[in-house]
Amino acid sequence: MIIAIDGPAASGKGTLGKKLAAHYGLRHLDTGLIYRAVAKALLDDGRPADDKTAAVAAAAALDPARFEPAALKAQAVGEVASVVSAIPELRAALVAFQRDFAATPPGAVLDGRDIGTVICPDADVKIFVTASPEVRAHRRALEFAASGAPMDEAAVLADIRKRDERDMGRAAAPLKQAADAHLLDTTNMDISTAIRAAIDIVEASRAGR
Ligand code: DC
Repeated sequence: MIIAIDGPAASGKGTLGKKLAAHYGLRHLDTGLIYRAVAKALLDDGRPADDKTAAVAAAAALDPARFEPAALKAQAVGEVASVVSAIPELRAALVAFQRDFAATPPGAVLDGRDIGTVICPDADVKIFVTASPEVRAHRRALEFAASGAPMDEAAVLADIRKRDERDMGRAAAPLKQAADAHLLDTTNMDISTAIRAAIDIVEASRAGR
């Protein structure tokens, strides 16, 4: 089984992806980490975010087994990831890895921006997770505070709006809901309610409803 989860920044898709994978005994890939790892490589090398050649080279050298999620989750890395991910050549270089991951038994949950539309258009279940920008900013601010790097919530909200615009407005694989994706709006849900709703969507899809 392949489950595709897409949605905007801080919508909760990563947490849902992890929980669904555990629930169904599937592997999990947070594809945002891949773009973040490329972004971090550019930052570490002092390269600009739109350096196509350096981005493609960084993609070829990636080793997902050695990703350090804590370092990759930094706000500055996410910002560069959003810019770097608009490069079509970089996206093309990352397709095979993601599809191989999805196709390896027993199947997987992938979360990102273009999983249901580009990477796994034939996924068994597609979920598009969203929430209001204000709620997403609040959740992200709580995460930053918990990780010991507090950020002003208004600044987080401004960043989220900018990221939404960039991720939805780019020409290459923009963030959008696939025609056959189920919409899950978590604005008024706590995490356990959202997980329950996601499992209900998977069960209904498998039952052909
Ligand atoms: O989900 P995230 O915040 O970790 O993603 C960081 C950036 O990576 C996001 O702003 C856009 C990009 N991204 C993408 O273009 N395609 C994906 N499948 C996942 C992430």
